[in-house]
Amino acid sequence: MDILGFEKLLYHREKLDKIRDDIPQFPVHVTVSLSNFCNHKCLWCTAYEAQQDKAETFDFDTLIDWLTRARDRGLKAVGYVGNGEPTAYPKFKELVKKVNALGIEQGMFTNGYLLDRYFDEILDYFTYIRISLDAGSAGVHSAMHDVPASHYPKIMANLKEITARRKNAHSPTIGVQYATHHENIHDMENSVRDALEAGVDYFSVKPVFNRGSVGERIEKNRLTTTDTTPLVMDLRKKYQDQNFEIFYRPYQVEAESLNRNVLKYDRCVAGYFNLTLYETGKLIYCGPHQVGVGTIHDSLEKIEANIHTLSKKLDLSKCPAGCRYHPMNRLVETVLKPDEAKENHPNFL
Ligand SMILES: C[S@@+](CC[C@H](N)C(=O)[O-])C[C@H]1O[C@@H](n2cnc3c(N)ncnc32)[C@H](O)[C@@H]1O
Repeated sequence: MDILGFEKLLYHREKLDKIRDDIPQFPVHVTVSLSNFCNHKCLWCTAYEAQQDKAETFDFDTLIDWLTRARDRGLKAVGYVGNGEPTAYPKFKELVKKVNALGIEQGMFTNGYLLDRYFDEILDYFTYIRISLDAGSAGVHSAMHDVPASHYPKIMANLKEITARRKNAHSPTIGVQYATHHENIHDMENSVRDALEAGVDYFSVKPVFNRGSVGERIEKNRLTTTDTTPLVMDLRKKYQDQNFEIFYRPYQVEAESLNRNVLKYDRCVAGYFNLTLYETGKLIYCGPHQVGVGTIHDSLEKIEANIHTLSKKLDLSKCPAGCRYHPMNRLVETVLKPDEAKENHPNFL
């Protein structure tokens, strides 16, 4: 099974049944934005606007209280991503220890610069971490992330140390992500080599989406699948093996270059599986739509009801081209809609 894909929905069959039977339910996963403060200033950042506001940080006790209630309602995992850098959260150590004690799984997207502060906690409490690297050299990294050139070697040293200190293979799973733009695509092979040398488990290639500060701090992404696909195929041939996988989804690049979703479906069910919780306390069905389902002060019943309503009335024409949930929605539709299912010859196994 592909850890970045949606076949994992098979582990949540009861949720699919509830969608089919039109029953509200609480999501499995919440993406948590601990703060809008970031120590990197990536030229394409989707959180650029949020970062212009006054620095805001999630109140520790309020967050733990909400997560405790959410766990009792069915929440299984949190992913720290959001508007800023999770490892810059002042109470990160206390937080991840407490969330682990609650029995909630943890993962995070990070730029990797401050990892050395938390090696023990990450090794003990995390299911995965993914490093947003986007470069294979100090020069390109410094230009794309708008940080001093000293950051890249420190991040690579952090990666080498954390992978070496793992007691069990792939625990936590450690990956490198490459947001690809015409200004950094030439450095991708160097990045793959460095990631492999650092001992990470996978390398994920995705396009820079034309959102956030794209157009303002960096040109619109001009790459198409013609630029990306042959390169990734070549890198797979050279470097991929059972211990190092290179993930790449051509439909993401295609959707981005066409500026529209290319996968067919009628209903977004992402809210039954993930919500985004911001440092302001707002709960959002999906980041790009910025459609709220309430705040941490609302009852969880109300939030479930709002998810249920929104799932049926979200304006899909406004969805960003590169949304990660397009393939999940397509998959759920092909499973739950009898006519769509028939097209897949479900009984010929
Ligand atoms: C906003 S960052 C916050 C988490 C953390 N600071 C990090 O660097 O991963 C979350 C993720 O969004 C990605 N991202 C931000 N803007 C993007 C864009 N315009 N296109 C593609 N990915 C983007 C980053 O590369 C990163 O992987």
